[in-house]
Amino acid sequence: MWGGRFGEGPAKIMEEINASIEIDKRLAAQDLRASRAHVEMLAAQKIVSQADAEAILRGLDDIETEIADGRFEFRRELEDIHLNIESRLAELIGPAAGRLHTARSRNDQVATDFRLWVREACARADALLLELQRALLAQAETHADTIMPGFTHLQPAQPVTFGHHCLAYVEMFARDRGRFADAATRMDESPLGAAALAGTPFPIDRERMAKALGFARPMRNSLDAVASRDFALEYLAAAAICSINLSRLAEEIVLWCSPAFGFVKFSDAFTTGSSIMPQKRNPDAAELVRGKTGRILGSFVMLASVLKGLALAYAKDLQEDKPAVFEAADALELSLAAMAGMMTDLQPQAEAMRKAAAAGHPTATDLADWLVAKLGKPFREAHHIAGAVVKRADELNLPLDKVPLQEMQTIEPKMTADVFPVLSVEASVNSRASYGGTAPAQVRRQIAFWREQLT
Ligand code: ARG
Repeated sequence: MWGGRFGEGPAKIMEEINASIEIDKRLAAQDLRASRAHVEMLAAQKIVSQADAEAILRGLDDIETEIADGRFEFRRELEDIHLNIESRLAELIGPAAGRLHTARSRNDQVATDFRLWVREACARADALLLELQRALLAQAETHADTIMPGFTHLQPAQPVTFGHHCLAYVEMFARDRGRFADAATRMDESPLGAAALAGTPFPIDRERMAKALGFARPMRNSLDAVASRDFALEYLAAAAICSINLSRLAEEIVLWCSPAFGFVKFSDAFTTGSSIMPQKRNPDAAELVRGKTGRILGSFVMLASVLKGLALAYAKDLQEDKPAVFEAADALELSLAAMAGMMTDLQPQAEAMRKAAAAGHPTATDLADWLVAKLGKPFREAHHIAGAVVKRADELNLPLDKVPLQEMQTIEPKMTADVFPVLSVEASVNSRASYGGTAPAQVRRQIAFWREQLT
């Protein structure tokens, strides 16, 4: 394809390091699409004849069918997807194929193909995140008032509801969707027509090509168009943050499934066994989602490191952009789908959660709040009194709401039996009705909001 001034072929090792076809054959559909937009524009601008353009378009259709049928032979000596397709086009239609590359370079070609691919990956991530949000919302609807321990430092803090906990992730995944959407909007410009780096003397119509490819507009600067991969980096940043969020849910699932917690169970469909320990029911999918975060975050670091310090415009380093993105996209999409499956399968164990919620005096804050509200104590003093009651409860081995009133009165003489109703976990949860709080009434308001958003 570029052999005019070359006498000999490349060394074996040169071919090996240069070839990217094994990776970038995944851009075949985008390459065909961009070539069609390009040749249609060339014909409309009378840069190639209508007859040649039609022959090229027919040839591209045939190649598409060959690829779909698994009949297309990808050849390493042809380096990459662009040259593989162009070479096959020449076999199919003859010399007219050579006109396709008029006013185009592989530099704007690959930038365009890859943008199209990454834009689709943003849309796929969005759709998968939506499914996951819906699964979480369904759990929240069923468990708007299922009480579980709320933790800070993984120590019992205050009781919350499982529905509230699920909705926290709905919020996080909504922001992940926002990040993919922002990235998609920013990458919505077409590099095609930038040619090698400086533009082209041919009277091309970049607006037309951009429109044909569904881009909002052509990129304004041809150097930027072929050199920039920050669109891919943004996708990877969004993917990395999303996978970090996923890993937190995954970690919670792993904890919740452990018999030491016993908060949730999975059906056999999402459980694996051990080859030695017959009793085991392992949450492998959650562990793998947690583990794949390393791969996805690693992909971001990989591409960031490739781009760092790279002089304009195109350099072959940029060919290393695709393994990073493909690897991250595969891992992310698998993780999102697996997580949606797990969240649908997951069976919260209300009784175990309720029992755990009562352990560790999680209503001590409610006691302090009562001392403030009913006895007019400053919060710091109330905190101190409640702490002393907790200490006494531990000595008596009783939950807070079972500590006899006289015991409490030895600590704070003004205490009355009115305090007991606020010390149950139900009362605690119900009382937290501030905006965004865990009271079931609040949780139902959030559910109503999300139901509207997610349908
Ligand atoms: N396979 C190359 C890549 O992915 C295509 C662009 C090659 N351009 C060049 N000037 N050699 O970056």
